Amino acid sequence: MEEEQHAIHWAQKKHGRKMLRSAQVRCALVLVFGAGLVAGPGCSSDSAPGATDSPLDASAESNHAFDAGADNTAGEETGVQDGGRRPIADASGNDASREAATDVSGPPADGSPGGGDAGAADVDAANDGSRDPDVATSDGPLPDATADGDGSDGARPIDTMAGAALTRGHHMGTAVKTDLLDSTTEPQFTTVLATHFDTVVAEYQMKWGTTQATRGQFNFVPGDQIIDFASRHAMTVKGHTLVWHQSLPAWVTALTQAEVGPVLDAHIAAVAGHWKGKLYAWDVVNEAIADDGSGYRTTSIFFQHLGAAFIERSFRAARAADPAALLFYNDYGAEGLNAKSNQVFTLVRDLKSAGVPIDGVGLQFHVNGAAPPPLADVAANLDRLIALGLIVNFSEIDIRVAEVPGTTAEKLATQRTLYHDIIALCAARPKCHSASTWGITDKYTWINDQYGPGHMPLPFDVDYMAKPAVAGVIDAWLGK
Ligand code: XIL
Repeated sequence: MEEEQHAIHWAQKKHGRKMLRSAQVRCALVLVFGAGLVAGPGCSSDSAPGATDSPLDASAESNHAFDAGADNTAGEETGVQDGGRRPIADASGNDASREAATDVSGPPADGSPGGGDAGAADVDAANDGSRDPDVATSDGPLPDATADGDGSDGARPIDTMAGAALTRGHHMGTAVKTDLLDSTTEPQFTTVLATHFDTVVAEYQMKWGTTQATRGQFNFVPGDQIIDFASRHAMTVKGHTLVWHQSLPAWVTALTQAEVGPVLDAHIAAVAGHWKGKLYAWDVVNEAIADDGSGYRTTSIFFQHLGAAFIERSFRAARAADPAALLFYNDYGAEGLNAKSNQVFTLVRDLKSAGVPIDGVGLQFHVNGAAPPPLADVAANLDRLIALGLIVNFSEIDIRVAEVPGTTAEKLATQRTLYHDIIALCAARPKCHSASTWGITDKYTWINDQYGPGHMPLPFDVDYMAKPAVAGVIDAWLGK
C-alpha cells in the first residue's frame, strides 16, 4: 500500500510540475503581450517575482518552521505515555463526536478533482521559511519536494485549490481527523486531501481532550499520525489548540484556583514541547472573547481562575516550548466589523504592544450563507489586523446554505460565490498566509452535528465530488 501510494504520488507530482510550469509560461506571455497591464492567472502584482512581503518571509526572519516535518520521530519522544507507533486504524483520536464512517467503495468518478491530479506541494524542506514564494513566482527550477523521499520535485497542479493558492505564495488547508486518514477504509478522503490541500490542522486530536484526557498522562499518538501523513504528502501542520474552554476533560474543569496556572503551564510545555519543530504554527488560545462580543468569555475555567492574564501566560508558555512556531489567537464571528471583532482587535493589539509573543490571528469563517459578513467589513478588519504587524489565517471555513433561498443548484451557486469572494480577500493580501476549510466533505462535518442536515458547508459533496465551490476557490486564488 505504501509503495503503491508513493508510485502514484510520484507520477502525480510530475504532472503537477508541468501544470505549474505551463501556468508560469502563460503568466509570462500575458505580461509580455499585454504590456504588463493585465495579469494572467497567478500573475498579479501580489505574486510578482521577487515579492518579499509574504508571511513566509516573516517566518524566515524569525526562523519559524514552515516545514512538513520530514524527520518524523514524534512518536518516539520520551515522556510520552502512549508514544509507540500503531496502525492508523487503531487510533480513534478519542473524539466522541466523530461520525461513524460508512463504507465508501470505488474511486472518485471520472472528472472528480479527487480522482487524478494529486501532487505534492512544495514545502520548505530546508526549514528556513524562504522557499515557497519563489516557487510560485520564479521561472527557475522548482526546488525538490523531499518529504516523501523520492527526490523528485512537484507542486500541486494549478487546477487544485492548493496549487492555485501557491501561485500567489498562499496555502490551502483543511482540518482532519486521524481515523479519516486510513486510506483503506476511506480512500477518497486521503486522495482529495493530498490533491487539494497543502496544510492541515487537527480537527480534534491536538486538543486537551486527546492530549491530556487523564491528568499527567499525555497521548500524542493521533496527533503524531496527522503529522506523519502530512510529512509524507508535503503538507505543513498547524497545531490546534492549546487553550480552549471546550474539549476539556472533566478533571480540568474541576481544578482549584491554585492548580489551574501550573496545570496550564505544564500542558503547554508538554504538548507544544512534544511537537516542537514539527508544526509551523499553533492556535495558542481559542475563542477567549464572549460570543456576543461583550468582553472576555467569563465562563472559561481559565478566565475564572486566572482572569485575562491566562492569555498572555499561554502565549509566553507556547513560545518557550516551541520558539519556532508562529503563535495565533483564533476566534469565530470576528470576521467582519462588529462588537466581537472589535474585542479581538483590542485584545491582540494590546498583546502585541505589551510584547507578548503573538504572530497572527485566525478568523474561523463558520459562515451562514444567508447572512455572510459584509465583504467590505472583512477587508477592513483584515487590514487593521495586518497593520498591527500580524499574519492572518482563515482558519476554519465552512459555508452553510440551508437558509439560502432557492434550489439546491442555486444554493450551491451562492456558496461558490461566497467561497470565491472570501478567499479572494485572502489572496489579495500577502499577509494572509492561508485559508483552511474545516473539513473536506459534506459527509463528515461538525456542522451536521451542530446545525443539523441540509447545510452542505464544505467544498466536496458526500461522494467526494467537487461542488461549484471548488472552482470558486481556485478562481479566487488565481485572481479571476
Ligand atoms: C470542533 C470539531 O469540529 C468537533 O469535531 C469537535 O468535537 C469540537 O470542536 N471552533 C473551533 C474548532 O475552534 O475547534 C471546533 O471544532 C469548531 C468551532
